[in-house]
Amino acid sequence: MSKGKKSMPRQAYVNGRYTPHNDAAVHIEDRGYQFADGVYEVVPVYNGILVDEEPHLDRLERSLRELQIEMPMSRAAMKLVSRELMRRNGLSRGFVYMQITRGVAPRDHKFPASASPALVMTTRQMKPHSPDMIEKGVKVITLRDIRWERCDIKSVSLLPNILGKQAAAEAGAYEAWQIDDDGNITEGTSANAWIVTDSDTVVTRHANSEILNGITRVALLDLIEKEGFKLEERAFSLEEARTAREAFVTSSSSFVMPVTQIDDNPVGNGHPGILTMKLRESYIAYMNSLKEAG
Ligand code: PDD
Repeated sequence: MSKGKKSMPRQAYVNGRYTPHNDAAVHIEDRGYQFADGVYEVVPVYNGILVDEEPHLDRLERSLRELQIEMPMSRAAMKLVSRELMRRNGLSRGFVYMQITRGVAPRDHKFPASASPALVMTTRQMKPHSPDMIEKGVKVITLRDIRWERCDIKSVSLLPNILGKQAAAEAGAYEAWQIDDDGNITEGTSANAWIVTDSDTVVTRHANSEILNGITRVALLDLIEKEGFKLEERAFSLEEARTAREAFVTSSSSFVMPVTQIDDNPVGNGHPGILTMKLRESYIAYMNSLKEAG
């Protein structure tokens, strides 16, 4: 930052306080730090609006419920903090990140008798996707899904995802698609996986405990239905993906991102698919149509 500039430093919200992001810290015995005993949400912000805030908060509450962690404050208060952080940080495009852990307690695996859930909220700006990436599409690699059986919980325990994303980065790829024991693709390390078949049917894995049910995924399913495209929610194999006409990923940061290479094989003609690009446009149009509630 240039010296004479008086803009406020980026703020974070940590357990009830707004604090400069660079100084924000949690206790060393926070169970998130000790055990990855916590959950998170990433809510995209587009045109200054929180995209699908309610479904994100629904999923956050569900993740917490599954782990028997209390909400640290009311949903209404979380919404207020999101907006206040966005205001303080001048955020119009990026994310609000929220993380809740079981709290601070002496290290012991079982739940502490008394601990209050700890809440951290931050924001992050995001640049628009590079036109090159959209025009060319991205590469994904594939690897074995070594995660646990509750991938529906948005847990901060992300080691397999991190290892997968690192392997992708080392291979010059954008994502790693994970493959279950039956040879079917579950999802990416931080995005849902989709293909389009020769008969123009959009296919994505059904949501159960083997994948995270992406909020972008759900919004896109709705758009696909409204626009009358053929859709199947089912498992699909690596073989089917390799020979698919089109492929893409969805997430809060990717929106709808065309995939044009799976491992060493081009997808379809090696260019972003027509239907994929239509869906990307529909999703962006959807985000542009959103207005601040109330
Ligand atoms: N990742 N699958 C996994 C494993 C994810 O981590 C994510 C999101 C998704 C897509 O979910 P959504 O559409 O709600 O973003 C699917 C976020 C962005 C992250 O970890 O940063």
